Amino acid sequence: MTDWSPESWKSKRAAQAVAYPCQEEVDRVVAQIAKLPPLVTSWEVLALKSQLAEAARGERFLLQGGDCAESFDTCDSATIANKIKVLLQMSLVLVHGAQRRVVRLGRFAGQYAKPRSEESETRHGVTLPNYRGDLINHAAFTPEARTPDPQLMLRGYERAALTINFIRALVVGGFVDPHHLDYWNLDWVKDSPMAEEYRRMARTIRDSLQFTESLAGEHPGGFHWIEFFTSHEGLHLPYEQAQTRRVPRQQGWFNLSTHFPWIGMRTADAEGAHVEYFRGIRNPIGVKVGPGLSPQCLRRLIRILNPENEPGRLTLIHRFGSDRIADCLPPLLEAARATACPVLWCCDPMHGNTRTTNGGVKTRNFDEIRSELEQAFEIHKAAGGRLGGMHVELAGEAVTECVGGARNLQEADLSRAYTSYLDPRLNYEQALELALFAARKMRALNGYASEDAGAPSIHKATA
Ligand code: PEP
Ligand code: CO
Repeated sequence: MTDWSPESWKSKRAAQAVAYPCQEEVDRVVAQIAKLPPLVTSWEVLALKSQLAEAARGERFLLQGGDCAESFDTCDSATIANKIKVLLQMSLVLVHGAQRRVVRLGRFAGQYAKPRSEESETRHGVTLPNYRGDLINHAAFTPEARTPDPQLMLRGYERAALTINFIRALVVGGFVDPHHLDYWNLDWVKDSPMAEEYRRMARTIRDSLQFTESLAGEHPGGFHWIEFFTSHEGLHLPYEQAQTRRVPRQQGWFNLSTHFPWIGMRTADAEGAHVEYFRGIRNPIGVKVGPGLSPQCLRRLIRILNPENEPGRLTLIHRFGSDRIADCLPPLLEAARATACPVLWCCDPMHGNTRTTNGGVKTRNFDEIRSELEQAFEIHKAAGGRLGGMHVELAGEAVTECVGGARNLQEADLSRAYTSYLDPRLNYEQALELALFAARKMRALNGYASEDAGAPSIHKATA
């Protein structure tokens, strides 16, 4: 690719661009990050790409989840470990219930920059630039806090490194070993209405593991069979550019700040700077697809971003809302099919279902989230394809940000434990409930009886 460089995006219009007070300082920070060691390696990036290719063929299911925005303040061991626990439990439910290996992709270790609908915010007659995530500025409502500070890119890179370091240690240290399902139980799982369904499943898995091991006389593959990959919205292009490099013995360029960057809905303009940047990197990438994207624009995006029809390269993450998916999705499925490019389809049932309560609190209703996911499974199936993944915003704690779910949280409960600065997340129970629902749905679509989960074939169903 001769007409592309890690900086060629600068010649295009960048939506959501940040106006820094001093460009020289931005350049200095980008040069500094470029010299630091990468957070991920090219072989991990390529391994993820081949797993996503398997997901597109129906051999795996993608589970992508984490905070709407990570914050520097909550880069701590409990927050990270709890997120890993809930993602592990969800993936276990999916592996077991759906009999499908799972690709685990965290929205973490770099999910620090946020697109905003409004440039600025006004409170009591004072107008300041909007908060755009900890990579750019601070949330406090003062002129100093809201002024974009390039040093925050360095702080973000460091925290991403701390986060990924801890996750790698947990994975290697056996925290994710399914022989130790008891490590993953969060304290309050015992009170959950779904505890019994989860425990029953965990017992079945333990028994199947023991059975397989005694039959084979060995531990099937050790605990390396559980992996985590990282992802974040590739929104802030100076930051993305900084770790875009060539790698010995590989062709092309890799973004080594994450395994999987994605293009958000507000920056998916085929002629814009983000698409220009993304077309030149070899990572597997995602694109958020929302209402208003025409079939023609989708075809153009697919052609630009995956001209060689490479399997695993492109994941389309659709987010329409439970009341719009039935109208919006089918024409896009048709358009993608017409390109003959193998794309992985993933449903984000969160971002099209955001509401504001009368009291001005952003929330999402669990029933609408579940309904969008259910419709997604059915629409893909009816069109002769398959839904290959789900993308959720979740917290490992008992936050109260989305209403509904097994405990039927009400609007009045929201103020109890609402800690997100940005979008409302599913709490641990709601996330697990959604995974149980997805697993049941997949079993039903595959023709299994939905209540009989049966014993999984460990060799086939885990990885
Ligand atoms: C997000 O994933 O947090 C987000 C902003 O999504 P979208 O681009 O789909 O609105
Ligand atoms: Co969000």
